[in-house]
Amino acid sequence: MSSVLTGITTNGSPHLGNYVGAMRPAIELSKKSKSFIFLADYHSLIKQQDPKLTHQSTLSIAAAWIACGLDLKNTIFYRQSSIPQIMELNWILTSITPKGLMNRAHAYKAIQDITSGKDKDKNVQMGLFNYPILMSSDILIFNADLIPVGRDQKQHIEMTRDIANKFNLTYGSFFNLPEPLIDETTSYLPGLDGNKMSKSYSNYIDLFSEEKKLQKQINQIKTDSLEPGEKKPKDSTLYKYFKCFSSDKNIKQIDAYFNEGMGWGDLKKELFELINMEISPARNKYFDLVNNPKKVEKLLKEGEAKALKIASKNLKEIRSLVGIKSL
Ligand code: TRP
Repeated sequence: MSSVLTGITTNGSPHLGNYVGAMRPAIELSKKSKSFIFLADYHSLIKQQDPKLTHQSTLSIAAAWIACGLDLKNTIFYRQSSIPQIMELNWILTSITPKGLMNRAHAYKAIQDITSGKDKDKNVQMGLFNYPILMSSDILIFNADLIPVGRDQKQHIEMTRDIANKFNLTYGSFFNLPEPLIDETTSYLPGLDGNKMSKSYSNYIDLFSEEKKLQKQINQIKTDSLEPGEKKPKDSTLYKYFKCFSSDKNIKQIDAYFNEGMGWGDLKKELFELINMEISPARNKYFDLVNNPKKVEKLLKEGEAKALKIASKNLKEIRSLVGIKSL
């Protein structure tokens, strides 16, 4: 049976992009496949160095997964930092990864592109540069097969395959080559400005804000100044939001609204209703969990005990393959 694995970096509270790109598809899959779902807390240290935020965000993202209905019977749910074998594998993989492969990573190149002056690397931490190797370790330590991610993460999964291949050729076959699972129509939610939704760009919509704030954030989705009726529905950011939250049946109705030239304001009210209908059942549960961290801690501890068993067994074999074993 194939296994599914995905994680979310613990930066701030979860946003709608995390929900649509990773959480919603992974939760669906968790109902029928063995799943590994984790909080990428070591990844978060690259993006922000505020200990309080890292701590709070871990609680908030864990609570969101549970509130949204993650099936904890089929799922191994854990913090990356609780599984030290990931870090050990990270070094083993770092030792065989060509630097040239990392030079091509989009996240790294994007920072270089916006850096002025001669030293294009001045704003690049080694953590950011090595990030795809840590992500590979997250995946390979459990030999996961299917990785549900937003499409911006596709390159990282390709790099994971390259690194796994390199290991297998060097030391003998051990790793599966994982596949990304990307639903192009429903797993990509752009940010308010139409670019990638990201904490770093401040263009996101919180997953769990009060209704008023949710409507306010939806009102900020960028629209153009074309007259209603002249709108090219498929191109607008707003339409992409509808695509992510409407059923196949409802999208016909939405198409009709766009064709009839319904004004942006009314469309945004419709969109609020749709999103709120999907999210509101989880909202109270989320706040209850955030106010009871012990409940969340207990669930994570249970998952971590299971994850540790698998990770330590796999790491033992990996260490042995590279020649690190009893004399
Ligand atoms: N890089 C992912 C993101 O920013 C988070 C992540 C870390 C991840 N390790 C992973 C996702 C392993 C899938 C598998 O969204």
